[in-house]
Amino acid sequence: MKIAIISGSHRVNAQSLKVSRYIESVLMEQKICDETWLFSLSGNPLPLWDESVWEGSEKWKTLLQPLSTELESSDGLVVVSPEWHGQAPAGLKNFFLLFSALQLGHKPALLVGVSSGPGGAYPIAELRMSSYKNNRICYIPEQLIIRNVESVLNDDPTRNNEEEDRYFRERIPYALRILGEYARALKQVRASGVTDTSVFSNGM
Ligand SMILES: Cc1cc2nc3c(=O)[nH]c(=O)nc-3n(C[C@H](O)[C@H](O)[C@H](O)COP(=O)(O)O)c2cc1C
Repeated sequence: MKIAIISGSHRVNAQSLKVSRYIESVLMEQKICDETWLFSLSGNPLPLWDESVWEGSEKWKTLLQPLSTELESSDGLVVVSPEWHGQAPAGLKNFFLLFSALQLGHKPALLVGVSSGPGGAYPIAELRMSSYKNNRICYIPEQLIIRNVESVLNDDPTRNNEEEDRYFRERIPYALRILGEYARALKQVRASGVTDTSVFSNGM
């Protein structure tokens, strides 16, 4: 089983990437899945969507095909979003313009909000409301909000708030184990054939 982790921050030294790497290590160490794929939006590797995506231009095909292959072979996702001015970053919304039900449809996803302060809930609410309609990604009810992110999950323990750090090191595996079971269960839903999108390619 393979889980994809999408780190949604454009910042090069993103805390979201630190969180994503920690999540990847837990997934592998606790054998929640056999394989991971971490894709980071740090440095903006994906240009903004334009019409030529739908026209199948060579430029887009070359860029998107390797990423599509990784997503298609994934059974579940972790979507890590920092809170930026009370929103999910534009690059993460762009990611959801570029990939469809072929890559994401009926796959469970764990949402992880990240904030340097007491925030982090807004991007989760936004993504739950608006990023799944056509691609049919299935956000599970469990979610994580990594508040005061700079003082948790650091390799150097002296930089961590001991109590908050301990809490997240227990809570993150709990959420990932739930995601793992959803990933196993939803395989059957996709395999049944009822999720075919050839007639109703978009959600209502
Ligand atoms: C453009 C921008 C806007 C931000 N707005 C918020 C905000 O509305 N709420 C919040 O809790 N943190 C906000 N932050 C701080 C982030 O929580 C902080 O950068 C944190 O480390 C997560 O983002 P990162 O993954 O890019 O590091 C903002 C950061 C940036 C770069």
